Amino acid sequence: MAGIRTGLTEMLGIKVPVIGAPMFLVAFEELVAAVSNAGGLGTLALPNYRTLDDLDQALATLDSATDRPFGVNIHVSGRFPWSQQLELCLDRGVRCFITSLGAPAPVIDRVHARGGLVFAEVVSLEQAVRAEGSGADGLIAVARGAGGHGGVLPLMVLVPYLKEHTSLPVVAAGGISTGRQMAAALALGAWGVVTGTRLVATVEARVAEAYKQAVVASGPGDIVVTDRITGNRASWIARSIEGVESGPSIGSRRWLDLWSAGVSVAQADAVKPAATIINDMVDEFHGVVNQFSKLQ
Ligand SMILES: Cc1cc2nc3c(=O)[nH]c(=O)nc-3n(C[C@H](O)[C@H](O)[C@H](O)COP(=O)(O)O)c2cc1C
Repeated sequence: MAGIRTGLTEMLGIKVPVIGAPMFLVAFEELVAAVSNAGGLGTLALPNYRTLDDLDQALATLDSATDRPFGVNIHVSGRFPWSQQLELCLDRGVRCFITSLGAPAPVIDRVHARGGLVFAEVVSLEQAVRAEGSGADGLIAVARGAGGHGGVLPLMVLVPYLKEHTSLPVVAAGGISTGRQMAAALALGAWGVVTGTRLVATVEARVAEAYKQAVVASGPGDIVVTDRITGNRASWIARSIEGVESGPSIGSRRWLDLWSAGVSVAQADAVKPAATIINDMVDEFHGVVNQFSKLQ
């Protein structure tokens, strides 16, 4: 398989600059391993594992499912305690951490002390400058339209804005799941991309088949952004949250019926193996670059 070399692939020791988004209640070991085995960086969201034993088991499963790097996401000010989980991940050799839902500062020194890297998810320049001041190694620029807790600025504005005003590598997130979109993000100055929503409609996502099919069947007009479910602005398939006034209690199985997705449902045409999606992104990327190199 042809790779794509960027600063991100060098930094993380991966072959293609695609991070499989950490996705609460969606991305478990099988999807993380599939993304890493396809040359990208699969990532686990720590709140998917309620006990240290569960997490230890997942990390052991991943160790046998892939010999490639994978990353871990910490919801810094989320509802789940993560301190001991972080220690376990460090002991198990995880090197790349992605912080979300809060500033990365509490994570950085501990990860750096063990030789790891921290990427901070940010939606604004203020958050980016704070993350840089705390010593983060990179930024994930989460743009408008992303699944999960999406941003407010369009990717076309956010990526160059953060590049201009910080000196950190920027990875682009929000609405990227094809090679053309990846080429556009790299043209904006991003070192790589995060793909989330598109990977819900994969063989390896651990969700109900109906959720995968809803991602395929939905168009951008079927997506709503509201803070009423989690208390933070988040993006949902509208029909899955119809009549739901607030999020269920922690641990309730009703969360499994609330389906987060961003507007990149537009590009989700079928449920496929994650490797097919990543390989297609890489092939299309090289096609676009080739086409562009002929422009005068
Ligand atoms: C179902 C779902 C769950 C998500 N859960 C998380 C999460 O637990 N932690 C996190 O940092 N981001 C989470 N995200 C956001 C992604 O990390 C990423 O920013 C986003 O998916 C990128 O945009 P895209 O969905 O258009 O590809 C989630 C996204 C989706 C679609």
